[in-house]
Amino acid sequence: MGSPDLSVIILAAGRGTRLKSALAKVLHRAGGRTLIEHAVLACRPLKAREIVAVVGHQAEEVEARVAPHGVRTVVQQPQRGTGHAVVVARRAISSRAKLAIVLPGDAPLLRSTTLGALIRAHRESGAAATILSAEIENPSGYGRILRNEDGSVAAIVEDSALSPEQRAIREINSSTYCFTLEKLWPCLGALRPKNAHRELYLTDAIALLRQKGENVQAVMASDAEEVLGCNTRADLAAADALLRRRKRAEIMDAGVTIELPETVVIDPGVTVGADTRIEPGVQLLGKTRVGANCVIRTGSILSDVVLEDGVVVKPYSILHASHLARGAQAGPFTHLRAEVRMEENARVGNFVEVKKSVLGEGVKAMHLTYLGDARVGSGTNVGAGTITCNYDGTRKNPTTIGKRVFIGSDTALVAPVRVGDGAYVAAGSVITENVPPNALGIARGRQSNKPGWAAARRREVARQGGRAASSKPAKSRKKSRRAARRAKPRRKKQRRPSRRR
Ligand code: UD1
Ligand code: CA
Repeated sequence: MGSPDLSVIILAAGRGTRLKSALAKVLHRAGGRTLIEHAVLACRPLKAREIVAVVGHQAEEVEARVAPHGVRTVVQQPQRGTGHAVVVARRAISSRAKLAIVLPGDAPLLRSTTLGALIRAHRESGAAATILSAEIENPSGYGRILRNEDGSVAAIVEDSALSPEQRAIREINSSTYCFTLEKLWPCLGALRPKNAHRELYLTDAIALLRQKGENVQAVMASDAEEVLGCNTRADLAAADALLRRRKRAEIMDAGVTIELPETVVIDPGVTVGADTRIEPGVQLLGKTRVGANCVIRTGSILSDVVLEDGVVVKPYSILHASHLARGAQAGPFTHLRAEVRMEENARVGNFVEVKKSVLGEGVKAMHLTYLGDARVGSGTNVGAGTITCNYDGTRKNPTTIGKRVFIGSDTALVAPVRVGDGAYVAAGSVITENVPPNALGIARGRQSNKPGWAAARRREVARQGGRAASSKPAKSRKKSRRAARRAKPRRKKQRRPSRRR
């Protein structure tokens, strides 16, 4: 059900001087989202007739963040204070709106339910303004709620204008309000920049309403952490920590074990299935979706990854934009760069890097391998040190490996190339031509053994004083080889031992 008489105004034009940043304040992130997105998402469930964001600093970037959520923007230029920002917003507010929620763009912990309760309280009391307040331990920096002796709200006093006695007030202004617009508009015209910053403060509207005898209420947030505003980097870090904790609590409530939860970072869009276990130091980012009964071991970072049920990610693996089907395993120290699909029970191990490839059911590539632009058929074993040479300096070329293939260790597959179903590739091969199904592909230098060579050499070394061959200068090494050859009676002419061995 919508609220056709309600508008929302988000104040997001400020630069955020105290952040000392080139980036506008509301574009900074906490809990995996920009501050402005948190504000918009808190407002959306209210189903107001419109959400208007007042933008100024980096207006285009801020607009790009909010427009996909159906938020309209108005530009406040220059920024002359929070009161001025609401004046600017007025031109985008429908004349049919009777109430407006006004909230700052820098309070990312605010919940929709709290805004809903604020609107209800406002409607019930019939007030001209209802302030969302909170009692907090350290109120410095915030405007304080000044109350009369009968407990009614008298004014909001900004931190910089507090008298020594007022400093003790712990009830603060969250900068989130519900206003009855026909009462608010006349007061905004009466605001004056009588403060150190020479700005028009929205907070001054409260005293003006009271002077006119209007009813002003303040309702306290049940959870004081919700009102945290992010003016400094330290505030951002505090908000981030609280948002991350909230997300972990939600994931644990869904039946997930998180070990040392305070070390685990989970982005807001991530889902995790029941009985999955997440070890310390894991990051689950972006749109990652983890199934049930998975294990994500320590130090692994997953972004935009889908894990079906029962997947195991071993320690220190970095997986991005990839899909691991049921029972697949990756790691330790695996890097899936993007667009990798591992079918059921496929496994990749230590120091294996994969990019834009499909590994069929039960494929194994357990050690020191690079697979790029490759399709590997089910049941194939990719030996240690296998490399797809997918890049020719200009183009990326595909490697296609069939089913139940055995790729021997240290194979280089020079793409484009195909290895047919059931084929073998001999270890150490540089495969430049297709290998037919069920064939053996072998492409390497032939070995030759020199019988007795090593024994003769050792004898020669011993004669020369027992120094190790490797510590000899090149010249004398050459000499001792010649001597070793001489020491052995030659039956027929032998080739020189290969130096490449
Ligand atoms: C404001 C309140 C303070 C309250 C605190 C809660 C005022 C004068 N003070 O102080 O009582 O305790 O929030 O966090 O309102 N903005 C604009 N245009 C402007 C100025 C600001 O859009 O001309 C936006 C900012 O981008 C920000 C929000 O309004 O999102 C609040 O402004 P900020 O400068 O953070 O106010 P505080 O000093 O925190
Ligand atoms: Ca603020």
